[in-house]
Amino acid sequence: MNLSKIISILVLTCLAAMSALAISPAPALKDIYEPHFLLGGAIGTHILDEQDPALSEILLRHYNSATNENCLKWEKVHPRLNAYDFEPSDQFVRFCEQHDLFTVGHVLVWHQQTPDWVYHTRAGNPVPRELLVQRLQEHIATVVGRYKGRVHGWDVVNEALAEDGSLRKSFWLDIIGEDYLEIAFRAAHAADPQAELYYNDFNMANPKKARGAVRMLKKLLDKGVPVHGVGLQGHWGLAYPDLQNLRASIEAYRDLGLKIMITELDISVLPNAFKHQGAEISDIARYSMTLDPYTDGLPDSVAKALADRYATLFEVFLDYSDTISRVTFWGLNDGDNWKNNFPVRGRTDYPLLFDRQNQPKEAFFAVLDAAGK
Ligand code: GLA
Repeated sequence: MNLSKIISILVLTCLAAMSALAISPAPALKDIYEPHFLLGGAIGTHILDEQDPALSEILLRHYNSATNENCLKWEKVHPRLNAYDFEPSDQFVRFCEQHDLFTVGHVLVWHQQTPDWVYHTRAGNPVPRELLVQRLQEHIATVVGRYKGRVHGWDVVNEALAEDGSLRKSFWLDIIGEDYLEIAFRAAHAADPQAELYYNDFNMANPKKARGAVRMLKKLLDKGVPVHGVGLQGHWGLAYPDLQNLRASIEAYRDLGLKIMITELDISVLPNAFKHQGAEISDIARYSMTLDPYTDGLPDSVAKALADRYATLFEVFLDYSDTISRVTFWGLNDGDNWKNNFPVRGRTDYPLLFDRQNQPKEAFFAVLDAAGK
């Protein structure tokens, strides 16, 4: 064999190795985390319609659980009296079944995204308590009953607490009273005794709210109400929540004997909009620069800070993996997340593990590595 042939074989071998590296996909997160907890993604109907197949690929490669974003919320699934629209939710549940995903139904009772006819007469007066109880029970029996044995866990009640740990003022509380929670959990259990039933809320690591949550959940459990788990919405930031508070709250929920899920995880890297006050019009351009600083891309230093934050949080989750049963991200890539529009519309945030081109970010590899430590 002459020298040029040897060189060309070497070059070809190198190229083959390089291209294998280039296309070799990142390891599947769900496999790495399989011994610890489930990993999930929240999915909207755009995923189910395969409008963006790359997003479903992220879900199916890396996660083994899915939560619907909107299609099971009351206003979507039960928009009018006696009128249910099950088409999107049927599609969601079928998709999860086809792909063998642990299926989470979100959400049965919430003060948001619930149509007004549920609580008020045409004249605008609150409906009588008995009627609202009946509506609640009928809604839950119908929705949970339809997916009996197919939806494995339900967010039964979402965000029933105020920040001080008292019960949030809502039409549910005003019209039915505190036992609307018990009624909801019992109705869900009657409709599907095998399904896991969760209470889900945000700021659940804040000490005051956590104390309120423990009080509320303990009361329900002491009465024998079937609550099986608590979901800590993870709409968090680079410095929030405080890790000591997070650990303390996880321990408090664990001590109630409840499973814990980190639900709705996304970590905003953007400045807190509410620090900005005043209404000086000439400040607007400066505001948008300061409030939306990464429209041209995420600087390496911030990408690193996000990766470090994810690593630290996953180290905490792993410390409690005997109690944490699932961690679910809210959305699949950075473009597919509400943080780009909340609390300020039209910003460019980077809250997830995959970028807008569906490529794994430094944060992805940080989460991967956290499991190997
Ligand atoms: C809350 C709800 C979710 C969703 C997010 C924002 O956390 O529980 O259903 O609406 O807000 O996208």
